[in-house]
This record gives sequence, C-alpha cells and structure tokens, in this order.
Amino acid sequence: MQFFPWKDQYSLNISEIDEQHRMLVGMIDRLHTAMAEGKGKSVLDEIINELYNYTKFHFITEERLMDEYDYPGFAEHKREHKELIGKVLAMMERHKKSTLGLSSDLSIMLQEWLNSHILETDKKYSEFLADRGIRL
Ligand code: FEO
Repeated sequence: MQFFPWKDQYSLNISEIDEQHRMLVGMIDRLHTAMAEGKGKSVLDEIINELYNYTKFHFITEERLMDEYDYPGFAEHKREHKELIGKVLAMMERHKKSTLGLSSDLSIMLQEWLNSHILETDKKYSEFLADRGIRL
C-alpha cells in the first residue's frame, strides 16, 4: 500500500520536473513505509541519503530553469529550497544519533513539501513559464 501516491494535482506539465517530482514522492513514500514497517536504521539511513542526494539534484534542475527564463520569484524560491534541504540534512543528522523524532520531522517535511512547496511554490514558476508560452 502506498501512503503517499502520486496525484495528478502535483503535475506542473513540465515532463522533466514531473518525472523528478514522481521520484521524490516515491522516495518519501518508501521512507514512510519503511518507518511504518519498523525497518532497521541502516535501511532508513539509505533511503534518507538517497532522498537528500536526489533533492539536491532536483533543486539544481529547477534553479537552472528559473534562472534561464528570468523567473522573477527565483530568489525567494531558491531560499525555500535552501530551507527544505536544511531540514532533510537535519533529519539525517538526528537519525545518525537516534531514530527518535524522525516520524514527526518527516510528517512536517511532507506537509511542507507536497502541500506547500510543490502545490504552491513550484506551481507559480510553471504558470509563469506557461503564460509566456514556454513548453518544456
Ligand atoms: Fe520541485 Fe522547487 O522543488
């Protein structure tokens, strides 16, 4: 069973970005499932590491895109990315010491990520591109 299935509303209609978001949602779901199943620390460490690395890669892709098309909200969007990556990093650091707190950290991060960042912040730049007729 998937805790966090992909939803059509996450789509930005930018194939490369949608594909990356699908990967991220899938990793978040795997992490949640592993926690719910009480998987060991090494399994969780591996998924969190993967999530961290893929998140960095994804943010670089989006930032390159926003820079290329002179998106006016670029600086603010980049600031949100920095905050999100900081939260994943903090989660990794805490998990190195103990698994306590990971569950609440994760649900806060999920809400911010899926409900706020993708659905609001990412949507804004995709609408900016669409309004200018830029199809990617
Ligand atoms: Fe898809 Fe701005 O993260």
